[in-house]
Amino acid sequence: MLQIPLLAAAAENILQDVSTLHPVSPPAESIRYLFYFVVAVALVILAVVWGVLFYSLARFRQKKNTGGASSPSGQPANSEITTAEPPQVYGSLPIEIAWTVAPGIIVLLLALVIVRTELEVRIKAPATTAGTNAVTATVIGHQWWWEYVIEQNGDQTVNVVTANELHVPASGGSDSVETLRPVYLTLKSADVCHSFWVPRLAGKTDLIPGKTNQMWFQTTQPGLYFGQCAEYCGAQHANMLLRVYVDTPETFAAWLANEQKPAVDDAAMREGRQAFLAQSCVNCHTIRGTTAKGKFGPDLTHLAARETFAGGMIKLNRDNLRLWIRDPQQIKGECLMPAFGLSDRNVDLITDYLMTLK
Ligand code: CUA
Repeated sequence: MLQIPLLAAAAENILQDVSTLHPVSPPAESIRYLFYFVVAVALVILAVVWGVLFYSLARFRQKKNTGGASSPSGQPANSEITTAEPPQVYGSLPIEIAWTVAPGIIVLLLALVIVRTELEVRIKAPATTAGTNAVTATVIGHQWWWEYVIEQNGDQTVNVVTANELHVPASGGSDSVETLRPVYLTLKSADVCHSFWVPRLAGKTDLIPGKTNQMWFQTTQPGLYFGQCAEYCGAQHANMLLRVYVDTPETFAAWLANEQKPAVDDAAMREGRQAFLAQSCVNCHTIRGTTAKGKFGPDLTHLAARETFAGGMIKLNRDNLRLWIRDPQQIKGECLMPAFGLSDRNVDLITDYLMTLK
């Protein structure tokens, strides 16, 4: 009973369109093109191999001698079967060359197309969009949640730290430098290997400890795009879900402006705020504008502006958050947040306070 509302967000994620075949961004389109190209080549090879196979089966099958009588049992007698084999070929230089060169050409062709796709997806953003109106952000993978640091919004330098739900602007419909809003992500890991995969936006890119990777995407279609950590990273790997909100330019500007503000200081929530600041919460969580400056866990400054928490696993509402604060291990076993054995009163105070942090 307890699990049903808690799992709602994860279940919602499973039901979304996460098909590589429905791309909305150039890198994802490149990958779909590559997929269709490789499948087409494989189908041609299949057609040739099966063609030769079935031709040989028909052409060289054992045949009855015409005009012979069947034996009484209905089985043809040995003498009625053509036992002579077709001419046997022992070694043929032309055939050897043909079946070496043909696959060689196919492999070379595939390699060239793959290298071109790799360049489009990994390295090269369209020359017309480089710089100017791009959004750049760093993604840091944690067991088992995503940290986002938005650094640049066009020519505006920002420093917005948030978690689990990435907001980016949609590009305008035309191909002018002013309206295209490419998103450049720098990928890092705080612990083990993870992989950032939102199939409709771009291919998988790993987040590797001690290494920095890059990726980019860009779309004209606002919407919520779902994804999933795609590299096994421990017990709750399956509950490390990705949500990328592609906002209209106005919605994105409003979101970014709100995220840049310190946390609201609601006089009615002072008691809850004191309860939060008096507990160990502050060792791991930051709430800007307060003394909570911990860095291990998600930044909570605008927690209540999000739709989910715990790595996109759980819908954010008072009931779910309350259960989480009481004992996270009951919900997301082995996550780094322990149950602190807070009194019911403190759990209520802290939950109510956090729910005001829009
Ligand atoms: Cu992070 Cu799998």
